[in-house]
Amino acid sequence: MKSLAALIIATLGLLLAGQSRAEEAIVLRFSHVVAPDTPKGLGAEKFKELAERYTQGRVRVEVYPLAQLYRDQEELEAVQLGAVEMVAPSLAKFGPLGIKEFEVFDLPYLFPGWAALHAVTQGAIGKELLAGLDSKGIRGLAFWDNGFKIMSANRPIHMPQDLAGLRMRIQPSRVLQAQMKTLGVVPQIIPLPAVHQALEMGVTDGTENPPSNMLVQRLSGVQPHATLSNHGYLGYAVIVNKAFWDGLPRDIRSALERAMSEATQYTNRIAETANAEALAKMKAAGSTLFHEQTAAEREAWIKALEPVYADVAARIGKDRIDAIRAATGPTQ
Ligand code: LMR
Repeated sequence: MKSLAALIIATLGLLLAGQSRAEEAIVLRFSHVVAPDTPKGLGAEKFKELAERYTQGRVRVEVYPLAQLYRDQEELEAVQLGAVEMVAPSLAKFGPLGIKEFEVFDLPYLFPGWAALHAVTQGAIGKELLAGLDSKGIRGLAFWDNGFKIMSANRPIHMPQDLAGLRMRIQPSRVLQAQMKTLGVVPQIIPLPAVHQALEMGVTDGTENPPSNMLVQRLSGVQPHATLSNHGYLGYAVIVNKAFWDGLPRDIRSALERAMSEATQYTNRIAETANAEALAKMKAAGSTLFHEQTAAEREAWIKALEPVYADVAARIGKDRIDAIRAATGPTQ
C-alpha cells in the first residue's frame, strides 16, 4: 500500500515536471554584430515582436546586438554548432563556409538598383542559394537588405586612380580583396566595430559602407571625403541552426516562418529609407564632403572594376554570373 502511494506521488511529480517543461518557452537567441538602429538591428527586433506574437509566447526571441555574443569571425561557427540559434551575417562573410556562390554579391556594379537586386534575392536564385546552406548544418531563411556602399577616404576619390596607394578597410571577402587590389588599394580586413579607431589612428585610410553603418559607427567624423559610388551591395542572409529548426514542432515552425517573411518585408522596406536618412544626417553634420559622381566618373569606375569579374568567374563559374545578370538586366 505504502509503495503504491509512493508510486502515485512519483508519477504525479513526473507529470507535473513534464507539464512545466512543456510550458517553458523555447528560447531563440538571435546574435548580430551591428547597432540596434540599423536595418538589420530593426529587422531583428521586428522578427522578435512577430515571432513572440504568432507563437503566443511559446517562443522567446532574445536579440543580442553589437557582437555581444559572437563577433564576425565566430558567428557562422557558433550557429553551425548550435551555440546560438540565429544569426544574419553579411553575404561577404560566407567565404569560410566554403559556399563560393555567395561571393557574387560582392561583385562591383552587379545590381543596377533595388528592383534588380530583389529579382535575385527574393526570386528563384535566392531560394537556390539559401537551400545550398543545408549541407552545412544551416537553414537559410531569408535575405535582408542593408544597402549600396559608398567609398570614403582621407582624401578626395573622384576617379578610380585617386584610390591608388590607399589602405582601405574591407569585410573578409576574396571578391572585395580583388576589387581593392584592382584599384591599386591595399585591402585591410578589420571588424566593423574597430574601424573608427583604425581610421582615427591613421592605421587605415578609408573604407566602404552603406551610409547607415557609416553613420552609426561614427565614421563620417574620421572620413573627410566620400564618393557616392553605390558600387556594391551589402546585405545579409538570416540563418538558423538546422537541427534546432527541424526539431521545432510543426505549428511553431510555421508561425516563425510567417514572422520571418513579414520581418523580411519590413526590413527590406525600411532599408532604403534608413540609408537615405543616414546620408542626409551626415551631409547636414558637415564633417564629410560627399561627392556626387558625374556620368563619366561612374563609367570610369565601372570600367576600372571590370577585371574583378574574370577573377570571380574563374572560381564560381561564368554561368552563375550570367544567370544573375540575366535576372538583373545590364548595369546602367
Ligand atoms: C561590416 O562588417 O561592415 C558589415 O558586415 C557589418 C554588418 O553586419 O552590417
